Order: sequence, then C-alpha cells, then structure tokens
Amino acid sequence: MLKGWFITVEGGEGAGKTTIVDKIEHFLKDEGLDVVRTREPGGIKIAEKIREVILDVTHTEMDERTEALLYAAARRQHLVEKVLPALEAGKVVICDRFIDSSLAYQGYAREIGVDEVLSINEFAVEGHLPELTLFFKVDPEVGLERISRDKNREVNRLDKEKLDFHKKVKEGYDKVNEMYRSRIAIIDAEQTVEHVYQQVIDVIREHDKFKTLKEMG
Ligand SMILES: Nc1ncnc2c1ncn2[C@@H]1O[C@H](COP(=O)(O)OP(=O)(O)OP(=O)(O)O)[C@@H](O)[C@H]1O
Ligand SMILES: [Mg+2]
Repeated sequence: MLKGWFITVEGGEGAGKTTIVDKIEHFLKDEGLDVVRTREPGGIKIAEKIREVILDVTHTEMDERTEALLYAAARRQHLVEKVLPALEAGKVVICDRFIDSSLAYQGYAREIGVDEVLSINEFAVEGHLPELTLFFKVDPEVGLERISRDKNREVNRLDKEKLDFHKKVKEGYDKVNEMYRSRIAIIDAEQTVEHVYQQVIDVIREHDKFKTLKEMG
C-alpha cells in the first residue's frame, strides 16, 4: 500500500469536475496535506502530446480501438512518471479523469466493450486503482448546456458528439459505478456549486485515508 492518497474525479462533460477540483485542492492544502493536482489525458509532456492527437478535431478518421489504446498509453506514462512517485512520497494526488472514463466512453459509449477496454487498462495500470473516485452525476443535457455558456472553453473532438453519445456515456458510467461500488462516491452534481462542494467535502472527511493522513500530520 502506497503512503499517499489517490483520488480521481469522473463524470460527463460540464459536470463541474474542474470547478470542484479547484476547491478540493484548496481544501486539502488548508488541511495541511501535500497535494498534486493533475488531469488525464495529459499531466506530463508525453501524455499531453498524446492528448493533442486524441482530441484534434481534424482526426475524424480515428479508429475507436486506436483511441482506446492512446488513452491507455497516456495513462500509463502519466501514472509511472507523475502519480506513483507522488504517492510514494505520501502526497494526495487528485486526478481529473482516469480509468473509469475509458470504460464509460470507449468501452460502453463507443461499444468496444467494457471488459475489453478494462483489459488493456489493467495492462496499463498494473493494479494501481484510485482509493476514492468522486463521480459527478449530472444529466447530459445539463452538462452540455453549462458548457455552451462557457465561451472560453476549447472545443474538442468529443464535444462534437451528439447528445445521444453523451447519454450513452452516462449509461456507461452507471455500469462502472455498479462494478466499483466500494471506491466510487456518487455526487449529485446538478446542485449549486456550493452544495456540490459540500457533498464532496463530507465524503473526503469521512474517508479512512483522510483520517489516517491527518493523524500522521
Ligand atoms: N454546480 C454547478 N452549477 C452551475 N454551473 C456550474 C456548476 N459547476 C460548474 N458549472 C459551470 O459549468 C461549466 C462547466 O464546468 P466545469 O468546467 O467545471 O466542468 P467539467 O466537468 O470540468 O467539464 P469538462 O468535462 O468539459 O472538463 C463552467 O462554466 C462552470 O462554471
Ligand atoms: Mg474539466
């Protein structure tokens, strides 16, 4: 067991992940913990390059298995280069998206199969799963409506998918949440930012790892 605490954040587009991760980062730092905040795909040089290939709007010919492999490759490099060293040093790592995104998007919504995508990801992560995953549950219509109001946001290849695709992502996440009940906390993300944040803080405070890290001070 690594000394640090690996937390991931999941949910569809516009669920409020980035907004709340900002706040979680502040909260944990105020609690005196050493925090590394990162995101997938990306977070380090090689993975950011893979991200550009995946999300490029001109890459309309991208095969879905190629896409799944690229995500897994970016995940692997990011894990060994950034996440694991931080966990070994006893830090809290908060990662915006991880393995569950691949299962929901590539496995379920793109119809490769959740088990097939899980198998390439098991190869990539070698058993290093998060100890806590915060899933931001929001109706896809609400998420997409939030994003459409945000003019500064970069538009990527996935944003161009139709509403039906995002509905399938939501169904995919429902399956994933059933597979990993013990590590995934479901957050009602249709509430105001303040209410969403409060739910998240309650989950964090109640988590054994948080208590352990606080005791070690
Ligand atoms: N609870 C909320 N209520 C209303 N608006 C919100 C809420 N949370 C976030 N927003 C707004 O919705 C937009 C999307 O939020 P945010 O970027 O945090 O979502 P995200 O889950 O990170 O999306 P993406 O998947 O695109 O990264 C932003 O403009 C943000 O200010
Ligand atoms: Mg975001």
